[in-house]
Amino acid sequence: MLDRPDPATAAALARLYDLDLHDDPGDLDLYLALADRADGRILELAAGSGRLAVPLALAGHPVTAVDNDPAMLDRGRARASAAGLPPERLEFVEADLLELALPDAGTYAFAFIALNSIMLLASREAQRAAFRTLAAHLAPGGLAAVDAWLPDAEDLGRFDGGSCSSGRARIPRRAPS
Ligand SMILES: C[S@@+](CC[C@H](N)C(=O)[O-])C[C@H]1O[C@@H](n2cnc3c(N)ncnc32)[C@H](O)[C@@H]1O
Repeated sequence: MLDRPDPATAAALARLYDLDLHDDPGDLDLYLALADRADGRILELAAGSGRLAVPLALAGHPVTAVDNDPAMLDRGRARASAAGLPPERLEFVEADLLELALPDAGTYAFAFIALNSIMLLASREAQRAAFRTLAAHLAPGGLAAVDAWLPDAEDLGRFDGGSCSSGRARIPRRAPS
């Protein structure tokens, strides 16, 4: 398990996360459509600061949002409160998704892991455990979604401000700090 930063650093990182995601990755419409199709309670694992959980709850879906980073959850709760959401519509739960066993497991119509968060889990076994958590919390016939993205060289080059040629990213060297 990774060491957690101190609370002030964690809060700053959570704020940076939201600033970074201000450039909308464009996935909300997909989750709104899947939620409408599932038509029931929603579980988001690795929900972070509520970027998706809050608008899903605002659209009328009851949502449980799980994350193991208290600073991200604090931002999520603030976002939900600013949006005027009643607590019963959106519940934030601090927990490790790998060990999650909510009392209402087996009742969710839709459960998902967004934005490549599955790749934050450090091993194949951890990723399998995440799928088991999704399955254990779904109602029979429930819907699961896992957004996984394997960047190619061009993507990596774009993210690092580099360019790529012949399928190989040229990642600029950073000066030692
Ligand atoms: C890329 S963010 C995604 C946040 C949100 N789903 C979104 O789409 O904006 C990944 C989140 O996964 C959380 N996370 C990573 N490992 C976790 C674990 N084992 N259990 C619960 N949350 C975890 C992090 O704290 C972080 O908030």
